[in-house]
Amino acid sequence: MIGTITLEHPDRSSSIEAYRDLATASVHQLAVDPAIQGAGVGGALIAYASAWARARRYERLALDTPQGASREVAWYFGRGFDLLQTVHVLGRRYASVVLTKELADFAVRRTGQARMDMSVPRLGKMQWVSANDSSVGLYRVAT
Ligand SMILES: CC(C)(COP(=O)(O)OP(=O)(O)OC[C@H]1O[C@@H](n2cnc3c(N)ncnc32)[C@H](O)[C@@H]1OP(=O)(O)O)[C@@H](O)C(=O)NCCC(=O)NCCS
Repeated sequence: MIGTITLEHPDRSSSIEAYRDLATASVHQLAVDPAIQGAGVGGALIAYASAWARARRYERLALDTPQGASREVAWYFGRGFDLLQTVHVLGRRYASVVLTKELADFAVRRTGQARMDMSVPRLGKMQWVSANDSSVGLYRVAT
């Protein structure tokens, strides 16, 4: 596996307001294998998240990351996210920032597909494997 992402539906019990919002899906556990970072995999994972959320008629994505992670925050800005607020999550010793991205087009039908083939320009064919609809791994397909 070269990358992973987890997508969540609204959570009424969340301390983060954006995660309670019924029109917002949230992104968690985004990570790309360090050996392959910078090749477009993270961007592909965000594109997948956007398609996942649009297909379920959400209007935006939200995520949080440590305020001090300026490189990651800049990376999210480059992928269409904007700063919503700074939060202090109970149990975390550091401040976090909540970022949101508006999803332009909701006219996508829900496919229900657990698998979807795609390609990342510099890496070739990829395959998504979904464990439980919202936790997704991205695998490189041997060619
Ligand atoms: C942040 C992360 C998901 C980005 O994924 P990626 O596959 O490396 O990103 P992409 O290849 O799609 O994007 C390429 C861009 O990211 C930049 N980049 C490369 N490695 C990066 C890194 N470690 N952190 C931030 N940006 C990085 C490249 O310079 C390039 O910039 P450009 O768009 O201005 O040209 C990935 O670096 C990662 O998993 N980091 C560690 C875990 C993490 O921080 N997760 C998010 C926590 S909220």
